[in-house]
Amino acid sequence: MNTTPLYRQLANHYLNAIRSGTLKTGERFPSIRLMMEKHAVSLSTAVQVCRELEDYGVLEARPRSGNYIRQPDTPARPAPINPPAPLDTGVYVGIHEQVSSVLKASQRATIKVNFASAYCAPQLYPLKTLQDNMIKALRQNHHLFGTTGSTAGNIALRNILARRALTAKTHLTAERIVITNGATEAINLALRAVTSPGDTVAVESPTFYGLLQILESLNLRVLEVPASTRSGINLLALEQLLQGPERIKALIVIPNLHNPLGSIMPDANKARLVQLCAEHDTVLIEDDTYGDLVDTEQPLSTLKHWDRNDNLIYCASLNKTLAPGMRLGWISAGKWHDRVEMLKHTQSRGCEALSQLAVSAFMGTPSYERYLRRLRITLTQQRVQMSAGILRYFPEGTRVTNPQGGTLLWVELPREHSSMALFHAALNVGIQISPGGIFSNDKRFDHFVRIGCGTPYSPKIDEALQTLGRLLNL
Ligand SMILES: Cc1ncc(COP(=O)(O)O)c(C=O)c1O
Repeated sequence: MNTTPLYRQLANHYLNAIRSGTLKTGERFPSIRLMMEKHAVSLSTAVQVCRELEDYGVLEARPRSGNYIRQPDTPARPAPINPPAPLDTGVYVGIHEQVSSVLKASQRATIKVNFASAYCAPQLYPLKTLQDNMIKALRQNHHLFGTTGSTAGNIALRNILARRALTAKTHLTAERIVITNGATEAINLALRAVTSPGDTVAVESPTFYGLLQILESLNLRVLEVPASTRSGINLLALEQLLQGPERIKALIVIPNLHNPLGSIMPDANKARLVQLCAEHDTVLIEDDTYGDLVDTEQPLSTLKHWDRNDNLIYCASLNKTLAPGMRLGWISAGKWHDRVEMLKHTQSRGCEALSQLAVSAFMGTPSYERYLRRLRITLTQQRVQMSAGILRYFPEGTRVTNPQGGTLLWVELPREHSSMALFHAALNVGIQISPGGIFSNDKRFDHFVRIGCGTPYSPKIDEALQTLGRLLNL
């Protein structure tokens, strides 16, 4: 029996027709009504088929006209989905030099306005409370600097993290959490636990450039799987790759408030993704760096929620939500817990204790939730203002994502613009941006820019956006 959902079977069917040239670029795609008639499917199945093909980048909806076949590499939306044409074999990442040169150039420049940061402005974090907690913790623990803590980290903090996860219907136990130096260390540990150099790891495309750097540093090969602003990783494309000749050892996914797309995977996709990875014995590494910054009061579900086989490694961080300077993150590695704990011990021992004490004293109180609520409202406002500013000053045809939380906007410039050229021109006048090219090994995102909205909108920011617009219009 074919267990692939009907809409996927149909989407595959049409995808093959497009690939083989039976349906050609520019041609009108069968209407929803015709599909319902010819394939005897419901309205929602027919609509889902079109959505899958849109995500795949081969279908374009034209207002009041219908759906048309389009060139897969011609973007129709802010975050186009590209076909996985060259993606049937893994490749060494090789991105790091470009990333490093971008980061180095930024460090050398005198920055007046930084749109490249994914952090919130310092004044938005509860710094005074954390500082007071630190002083209190030191007073109460005279021997703190003379002793070492456990490799796994402060148990009170781990208990708080496990309790908080429950509200997102995620079952973590404190005993199986290891506190890390941010999500960066958590992801490094996860990859070291389940892969060997030369193995292939899949990521979303585009994805956070730091992940590409980690993969490169561990001598892993990478497969990029298309992802969209609407629903994150494309499951159809992933399924095809999982069925292909390349053994995919692990997959790193940012399901909630993706960096840079801002996407949130629908629950049904999350469930299916977990199932797919279990079926293909591919370890799923969940990067939940931004989940707590969602606009809504109700927490987002995690991939971990659907993990029935202990086949998932959950990684998260407090660096965006609470205190970038403390570098605290955590990992819950399921059946790889013992190995991850051993690797953490051999790599860096336990994280230092003072910041964990200060953070637990805050996160264990209702004030933490109140603080997060205020932060979310502020970020929503900042994103709206920033987005309006971009659309006001950037060239006609610019498109901006509308994420439901977080600090990031993914901006698509008209195709003729190079975000790398903009990056250098902007740096000359003290403005830092993240050029789209560093979020993939491919050249597909060269006309995209990631803009951070962590800082309150001000005349200075407005002027900087205006300057970027002027540079683009030169
Ligand atoms: C998606 C994603 N994962 C991981 C990280 C690294 O997080 P940390 O600063 O906690 O190491 C970042 C930082 O920007 C990120 O955006």
